[in-house]
Amino acid sequence: MKLLEDRIEKDGRVLGEDVLKVDSFLNHQIDPDLMVALGNEFYARFKDEPITKILTVESSGIAPALAAGMAFHVPVVFARKHKSLTLKDNLYTSEVYSFTKKTANQIAIAEKFLSSDDKVLIVDDFLANGQAVEGLIDIIGQAGATLEGVGIVIEKTFQKGRQLLDDRHIRVESLARIAAFENGHVVFAQD
Ligand code: G4P
Ligand code: NA
Ligand code: NA
Repeated sequence: MKLLEDRIEKDGRVLGEDVLKVDSFLNHQIDPDLMVALGNEFYARFKDEPITKILTVESSGIAPALAAGMAFHVPVVFARKHKSLTLKDNLYTSEVYSFTKKTANQIAIAEKFLSSDDKVLIVDDFLANGQAVEGLIDIIGQAGATLEGVGIVIEKTFQKGRQLLDDRHIRVESLARIAAFENGHVVFAQD
């Protein structure tokens, strides 16, 4: 998606070997007009699927997931990473391991917000090692819901998440695909 690639080139900053900092429009400050455009693009790519629900993980997935939900006119559910006072029982949970932080986190979704009738589109900000998406897929399985596809804002093709999902024949649509970082610059995948 040209608009997103241009924005990454303009405002993204490469940190070290493999991290792109996009906190001026996605991960901290959020550009609402860009989010609407991303939501519409997810809709254009998945509109032939019978999506009933968008699933993501807090916190950075929520903005693009909400934009997708606005385009599809379906509810958006975000998995929680932290224990909640009001969210205790009747939960689907999954362990998510972060290779970056080398910690395991539990994610949780209330059973009442996901059922076997649901046809789910997962939306997330980054696809790196794919562990957050794997956790959501685990929860979708526990609910007996159907996964229709995965929509990603920024995919890093050189990390192992995309391959994991391709191996499972899951449809993945990434709005920007980064093949490499070279001398502090982003190299987009040609496809
Ligand atoms: P993954 O397996 O879910 O693909 O991610 P990984 O453990 O590698 O990364 C952990 C966190 O770092 C995730 O956010 C993920 O979205 C984020 N991340 C991965 N690569 C990048 C990157 O290049 N740039 C930025 N800005 N973030 C990246 P999280 O810990 O779940 O946090 P939150 O921000 O959603 O709360
Ligand atoms: Na995320
Ligand atoms: Na993040």
